[in-house]
Amino acid sequence: MEVATTITEVRRLVRQARQRGRTIGLVPTMGALHPGHVSLIEAAAGRCDFIVVSIFVNPTQFGPSEDFAKYPRPIEQDLAICKDHGVDLVFTPSAEEMYGQGGLTWVEVERLTSPLCGRFRPGHFRGVTTVCAKLFNIVLPDLAFFGQKDAQQAVVIRRMVKDLNMPLEIVVCPTVREPDGLAMSSRNRYLSPSHRGQAATIYRALRHGEDEIRRGVKDAGKLADAITAILRQVPGIALQYVSIVDAESLQPKDPVTGEVLVAVAVRIGSTRLIDNIVVDAG
Ligand code: PAJ
Repeated sequence: MEVATTITEVRRLVRQARQRGRTIGLVPTMGALHPGHVSLIEAAAGRCDFIVVSIFVNPTQFGPSEDFAKYPRPIEQDLAICKDHGVDLVFTPSAEEMYGQGGLTWVEVERLTSPLCGRFRPGHFRGVTTVCAKLFNIVLPDLAFFGQKDAQQAVVIRRMVKDLNMPLEIVVCPTVREPDGLAMSSRNRYLSPSHRGQAATIYRALRHGEDEIRRGVKDAGKLADAITAILRQVPGIALQYVSIVDAESLQPKDPVTGEVLVAVAVRIGSTRLIDNIVVDAG
């Protein structure tokens, strides 16, 4: 496995792989790798024969009061995980390598970035789409792998690729969960043991929403109330949103029909957690 810190080096190694006829797969991450990230690496291994993982805690997608400084950076562990899973190249650039003295150019997807997390994290998706556009231009992958865990991110990236005719395929992989249902996240390690216990309620609440949809509940407000009621039972959880939206347009869906995304964001202590499920409401 190669580890590259410069754009020049990544380009050289990917060019070599392509000359050998390899299909290039990119898994963009911010590190602190867990089984959710590993599932993306495994999906990439199923479809590509040269796997690039980027590890970059992207400053432009964090708000001023967010956790950029304290975001975990266990780089040695991350490299060991990549090596164990057959990654060919890890790209770990510095902020300076990625942004120099600061870029003047941004990629911004409109409308899809306004609801859900967009309401609570202004500028976040602009940072995500800009860094992903840069990573796609640096690596030139045939495929790039994203997790359904960050459902809005996946929809936004897909749209960017479509709108800007970027020559790659976006593959979205299922959410990997802990045994009690909590979606795996690098941020779970911030949780105290008692908050960690409470966090399992998020998925329980989503599943309850799914059950209600399957029981025939079509009123989005009632559905959101039912999910909210479960989350409110936990004193440590502060709700940001419970939203039932069209899984593609991310617009509110009421009555609830077709493929809907049921998405939740909460704070537990100072940790912000998101999760979602997609339900076919018929
Ligand atoms: P990060 O949070 O490290 O996540 C990297 C990728 O792993 C994302 O596509 C995310 O959706 C996926 N992922 C995280 N937890 C998952 C889980 N439990 N199951 C399945 N996939 C999971 O998302 C980012 O980094 C950044 O925004 C990035 C795209 C790298 C741009 O900086």
